[in-house]
Amino acid sequence: MSRKQRQSWDLRRFISTLNNFELIPVVSDLQKLFKKSDRPSPKQENSTMGIILVTGATGGVGKRVVSRLLSQNYYVRALVRDREAAKSLFDERVELVQGDVTRPETLTPKLLENVAAVISCVGTRVQAVEGDTPNRDKYYQGTKFYMPQVVDSPQQVEYLGMKNLVEGVKKYIRSDTKLLFDFTHPTEQIKDIWGAVDDVVMGGVSESSIRLEENKAVFSGNVSTANNGGFASVRTKNLTPPLDLSEYQGIELNVQGDGKRYKFIIRCEGKWDGMGYSYSFDTFYNMPTTVRIPFSELIPVFRAKTVPEMGNFDPSCVYSMQLMQTKFEYDGALNPKFSPGLFRLDISYIKAYGRNINTPQFILISSAGVTRPGRSDINIEEQPPAVKMNEQLGGILTWKLKGEEVLRQSGLNYTIIRPCALTENPGNKALMFEQGDNLKGQVSREAIADLCLQLLRWPSACQKTFEVCEEETPDKGQTKQAIEALQPD
Ligand SMILES: NC(=O)c1ccc[n+]([C@@H]2O[C@H](COP(=O)([O-])OP(=O)(O)OC[C@H]3O[C@@H](n4cnc5c(N)ncnc54)[C@H](OP(=O)(O)O)[C@@H]3O)[C@@H](O)[C@H]2O)c1
Repeated sequence: MSRKQRQSWDLRRFISTLNNFELIPVVSDLQKLFKKSDRPSPKQENSTMGIILVTGATGGVGKRVVSRLLSQNYYVRALVRDREAAKSLFDERVELVQGDVTRPETLTPKLLENVAAVISCVGTRVQAVEGDTPNRDKYYQGTKFYMPQVVDSPQQVEYLGMKNLVEGVKKYIRSDTKLLFDFTHPTEQIKDIWGAVDDVVMGGVSESSIRLEENKAVFSGNVSTANNGGFASVRTKNLTPPLDLSEYQGIELNVQGDGKRYKFIIRCEGKWDGMGYSYSFDTFYNMPTTVRIPFSELIPVFRAKTVPEMGNFDPSCVYSMQLMQTKFEYDGALNPKFSPGLFRLDISYIKAYGRNINTPQFILISSAGVTRPGRSDINIEEQPPAVKMNEQLGGILTWKLKGEEVLRQSGLNYTIIRPCALTENPGNKALMFEQGDNLKGQVSREAIADLCLQLLRWPSACQKTFEVCEEETPDKGQTKQAIEALQPD
């Protein structure tokens, strides 16, 4: 190209691009975007699992579950009905959120966002009929009183409360996707992180920008092939520390384009002009499209040259992401859908997808006996008090069973534990598991709390409902095998 044909190059834009990404100290920290709380995150491996929400946290089983989760370095959020009263019960590491399962308006994003699993220990409050008193000597088959009565409606707590909780959890539970950039709710941080990198950095004159509109980001501009140029792009600043997406399988973009082909480039090194991993995708004029980019299909590139010897993309260490409109495909080939001039790509979100969730997301403490009221194959006189008194206690077991059914139908990975009579004993005995709801006996609240912590990590616990009681013999570490042997629902 002759000197005359060259278009005038914009030094100011060149410097501003470098300033935006390189010359000023890199202060961006994308992790802030994903951080939902100011609490320091726990250091050990369980912190990667996400938040564990405990409901019924102030109860006999609930508080034991909370203390075990903390001792194993989980990040714990607790639903409590009276936050002030609960403060004295818990370590300050527990995030207390006030709410009530019977009041769906209290099951807010503050309670449910970023939750990886729920352990539900809620139970209808039962108290002594006037004249009777709680007394340790009266502990009998888990009932604290000779003459119990329900304080709240079991239909409300055990069934409708469960329904409310499951519906809320389904909306917010950490799913198999992780939202990285939600342009439908743009923030100042997002604005600060993305900036244009056009061929001005190589002498070209293309020009682009990213702007945030009400519910999308708009990457638009004008690509010119003058001065041997031909690309425009927007890129994130470097992440410090880099993002770990190793649990996921790829990146999902939701875009609406102009019929042109674009590139998505992701980097697992922090260099400005370093190696990247690229994926080309086509858009359709004015049609929203979801593009899934498997990490395994990313092409290692340096600029637009492929570098196969670089090997596979490392999702554990993501430094930056970039969207590009370019004349160039790879290794000298041209983008078949390219035409110089104006372009526009609207972006709703960028997500990581494909996290493999194979452990329980919802562990429910229900009760042995839930199917027994009204069952013709059992002698009611031989049943524990909770079964005999079901009517008197507002159908507590009947409503618990309905609550279980809500969970079984939810589509979540769940485990339903049906303990026999709960005791305050130490809980060092072997556990006996059964299915079919015929088991009788007792089991320590300590043992149930221990069991919840174990189940959280066992894929074999998913979609199983079982009864549990204690044996006379000491625990011999056979619980995992016993859970594996149970039938899924
Ligand atoms: N007792 C037994 O022998 C036995 C046997 C088998 C199964 N179970 C079941 O095992 C589970 C745990 O038993 P537990 O002895 O630990 O129970 P618990 O000590 O009575 O605790 C019940 C918990 O549920 C909470 N709760 C009640 N209504 C609520 C609502 N509307 N919204 C939010 N939270 C609510 C209570 O909060 P507050 O502190 O605000 O009241 C408390 O934290 C219960 O489901 C129980 O029915 C018991």
